[in-house]
Amino acid sequence: MKFSLKEIYKDYFNIGAAVNPPVIETHKDLILQHFNSLTCENEMKFGNIHPEENRYNFESADKVYSFARENGLMIRGHALVWHQEIPQWLFQNSSREIALARLEEHTKILAERYPDIYAWDVLNEGLDDGDGFYRNTPWIETVGEDYFEKVFETAGKHLKNAALFYNDYNEFDPKKQEKYIRKIKEMQKAGAPVSGVGLQCHLGLNHAVDFGEIRRGMEEYAKLGLKIHITELDVSLYPFEDKEMHTAPTFEQYKQQVRVYKELFKVLREYKNEIETVTFWGAADDVTWLNYFPVKGRKNGGLLFDEEHEPKEAFYAVCDF
Ligand code: GLA
Repeated sequence: MKFSLKEIYKDYFNIGAAVNPPVIETHKDLILQHFNSLTCENEMKFGNIHPEENRYNFESADKVYSFARENGLMIRGHALVWHQEIPQWLFQNSSREIALARLEEHTKILAERYPDIYAWDVLNEGLDDGDGFYRNTPWIETVGEDYFEKVFETAGKHLKNAALFYNDYNEFDPKKQEKYIRKIKEMQKAGAPVSGVGLQCHLGLNHAVDFGEIRRGMEEYAKLGLKIHITELDVSLYPFEDKEMHTAPTFEQYKQQVRVYKELFKVLREYKNEIETVTFWGAADDVTWLNYFPVKGRKNGGLLFDEEHEPKEAFYAVCDF
């Protein structure tokens, strides 16, 4: 077996990781060996890169972008519009027109600075998890219900080299998925330039139970005829509802994680014609948001490489097909 995830999957899809400036140094060997697509974990989010109206903070994003280019890796942009990481100035003294003009200027500047980005998460998490349709955000309050279309139009005008994605989580929950698909179809009908479906795939041990739901879900997304990217994959060692502080995951939990990864990749390989990239939300278990969310300091590890950057059993499960 060849010991490189991107090599093993080269006839299926690109293999990505979310990284940040320290990680491209501390995890350099691991990244270069296994991954061929990178995403900035936080560095391109609105508030980070454009904290004040007339001040951009490109330094961190530049580091990741240059690292990717110097090493021949592809790079995704994440995320142009989101309800978090909104800088204070953005909706101050604003109106629909002003907010859209500010977005346009921002998009244009990012497009010029990062022309090699091949896919952008143009809009992140705009749909409601509960009974509502849209998530209530400053964007919808200020711009109005057609903000999805408007944001994609703006992106289409400037991000000419990138595929344009709508990205969201709980993507296999039937209620959320219905909204997701309805909104994509509405945008297609309105002529908004959406070219990709971003499925975050923050999974947990709940998913050991029903893989039918994931397979049925993928089938529905595939029918849209758009590119699919798995954008933020990890498999928490706990079920979602478990918010206890445990000292360490159990052997049984690790075994279940292996099973979820194995089953998931089996489904993903079936959709290799639609899926272009599978990105993990991190490179190895030593640096991952799961170590502080939803329980700060709880040991968790949702990725394929352990804290020493060594392949876990889940890695071998994913490579064995
Ligand atoms: C969401 C966002 C990501 C990241 C993760 C958790 O899924 O899209 O940018 O913040 O949460 O870290």
